[in-house]
Amino acid sequence: MEMEQPVKTNESHPLEPAIITLFNNACESTLENMYFNTHRRQIASLFVARDYLAIFGNPSLLQAYVAAYSPSRSLCYYSLFSSSETLKTSLQSANFIYSVGSGSGGELVGITAALSRTTRTTTTTPTFHSQDIADYTTALAPIHTTLKTTFPSVNLTYESSVFDILSTLQEHVSLKTECVAKADVITCFFILNELLANSKKEFVAFVKVLVMGMKQGALLVVGDSAGSFSEVAVGTSSSKPSPQQQQQRQPTYMVYHLLDAIKAFEIVEQADSQWYRYPQGLHYPVKLNNMRHFLRIYRKL
Ligand SMILES: C[S@@+](CC[C@H](N)C(=O)[O-])C[C@H]1O[C@@H](n2cnc3c(N)ncnc32)[C@H](O)[C@@H]1O
Repeated sequence: MEMEQPVKTNESHPLEPAIITLFNNACESTLENMYFNTHRRQIASLFVARDYLAIFGNPSLLQAYVAAYSPSRSLCYYSLFSSSETLKTSLQSANFIYSVGSGSGGELVGITAALSRTTRTTTTTPTFHSQDIADYTTALAPIHTTLKTTFPSVNLTYESSVFDILSTLQEHVSLKTECVAKADVITCFFILNELLANSKKEFVAFVKVLVMGMKQGALLVVGDSAGSFSEVAVGTSSSKPSPQQQQQRQPTYMVYHLLDAIKAFEIVEQADSQWYRYPQGLHYPVKLNNMRHFLRIYRKL
């Protein structure tokens, strides 16, 4: 185990090594588990098959998912929240951050790291609410402990909820509506395609909750793969193209085409494709990934 050191507050001191050390320590037992590589291969082939529920519905794969995927994601989200002027400014005063599909911890670690470099303009303690269909409690427990020792200067209240964000059960509708209404920042990273794949009708209902429920000035931050993986076939109930559709070259579109058309949202920052490249010199047992993703930051009008 590497020594956990509270990170230096010096602005010029890069935080990426601290983020990777945090995962090295928090995920040590998973990384050393004899089934870890088997689980990683299983996850990778289920991603190719776009069988997301088989990954996130299987508790024995969740710890491997966190250890293998969340470090790269955290680095990317740290970079995003500490380089975008819109997001940097929002972190100075945000009181409630609602992160949809974020149970695996990537957003939590990235945003906490960015907060450690933020001078807050209010004395209130912000809340980070992680929402996910899967219960990552066991996998995230060591990450919470390690976050506190790595970023002791960050005052952040953590909450989570576990349910299908598309659920129409009254208790779930109330909870998501309440969180959406008080959020200053809502993130949807690598989740909207999955939602669209599960059900277009319920996806549209969820977008309506955002449009109707977000307060004026709140931000919706959306990012997902920029490649063809994110394309959704038009006119089908699923984003998994059938072999016949593939042959007919069904027209496809990206999730942001749908969101860009919403009149209640102003597009504040956008990129149809951008790279996050992690810095040299980071050591982690699993290969870290550079990420090509699209980005949209919408402001509710
Ligand atoms: C590809 S992972 C992305 C995780 C994280 N947002 C990130 O960027 O690292 C998708 C996440 O969305 C969650 N998810 C999938 N369908 C969901 C649903 N219907 N409601 C809530 N969460 C869902 C999965 O459990 C998983 O944690």
